Amino acid sequence: MDKKKILILGASGFVGNAIYKELCSYFDTYGTYCSNRSFAKNKQFLRYDIEEDDIFKVLEKVKPDVIVSSLRGNFPAQIQAHQHLMEYLMQTDTKLYFISSANVFDAYSKYPSYEHDKTLSLSVYGRLKIKIENMMMRLPKGKTAILRVPMVFGNASPRIKEIKENIANKEPIEVFPNLIINVTNDDRLTQQIHYLINRNKTGIYHLGSNDLIQHEEFIKEVIEHLGNYHPIYKRVYTTNEDRYLAALPKDNILPRNLRISCQEIIEHHLPV
Ligand SMILES: NC(=O)c1ccc[n+]([C@@H]2O[C@H](COP(=O)([O-])OP(=O)(O)OC[C@H]3O[C@@H](n4cnc5c(N)ncnc54)[C@H](OP(=O)(O)O)[C@@H]3O)[C@@H](O)[C@H]2O)c1
Repeated sequence: MDKKKILILGASGFVGNAIYKELCSYFDTYGTYCSNRSFAKNKQFLRYDIEEDDIFKVLEKVKPDVIVSSLRGNFPAQIQAHQHLMEYLMQTDTKLYFISSANVFDAYSKYPSYEHDKTLSLSVYGRLKIKIENMMMRLPKGKTAILRVPMVFGNASPRIKEIKENIANKEPIEVFPNLIINVTNDDRLTQQIHYLINRNKTGIYHLGSNDLIQHEEFIKEVIEHLGNYHPIYKRVYTTNEDRYLAALPKDNILPRNLRISCQEIIEHHLPV
């Protein structure tokens, strides 16, 4: 079978590596790393520093059918690299899947947002994501997929690792009682991305739980699942009213078996 060639930018990171592991048995999968030298000897990995290296060189080497962008790093350098990616997409049949964020809606605090709502952000991070999304929307349909992702949890996630460390060190755990969110985990997120790539899907996808939960309630329930702990909570109020940070799916719905609820994500966490 003619396997698709996939290039994951940021494949040494939490999200990028989870995607790499999900895809590598099914596709001819390559990834980039930057500072994490543990990938240096892996033949499927290339070193790429967004501030120093030319993305075209990586693209010329791999000649991917699909690029998944899951990078962090200097913001102006991210913009420039994605501008170059757009040029490459115009010259080739390659598709780009961009890991965006629910933060593209962080200026709208009174309600959750859906795929085709107008984006607006008050944060530098959200504005960066919007800028890259807008570049992608100027390209012909069928070349790009914008994947808006809420906070990602999971046993190996940095967020859960930090919670476990705080419990072990008896440090307070920050919770946001006024913040209403949707969430996801690494396993379901990567299955969803696998499905989208397999089916050549493009467009805008909100890859989070179908339902909402208060941040404080979610974190407390996850901790109950981790074991019989009684940590100190630091309740952080950023506003007096409830605030939403949620990108819910409505127009581009995935098959039932690929959807997830907050409760499933909570129950997925294993005791320490
Ligand atoms: N984690 C979440 O909850 C979440 C939620 C929504 C959206 N996202 C998005 O998902 C993407 C990945 O996030 P993550 O949580 O997986 O972050 P991460 O674990 O910090 O991974 C970031 C990746 O980017 C690479 N990188 C960092 N600086 C670089 C540079 N100067 N040049 C080239 N590569 C560089 C890292 O390589 P090295 O480690 O090798 O340096 C790593 O592979 C981001 O775009 C983020 O906005 C994440």
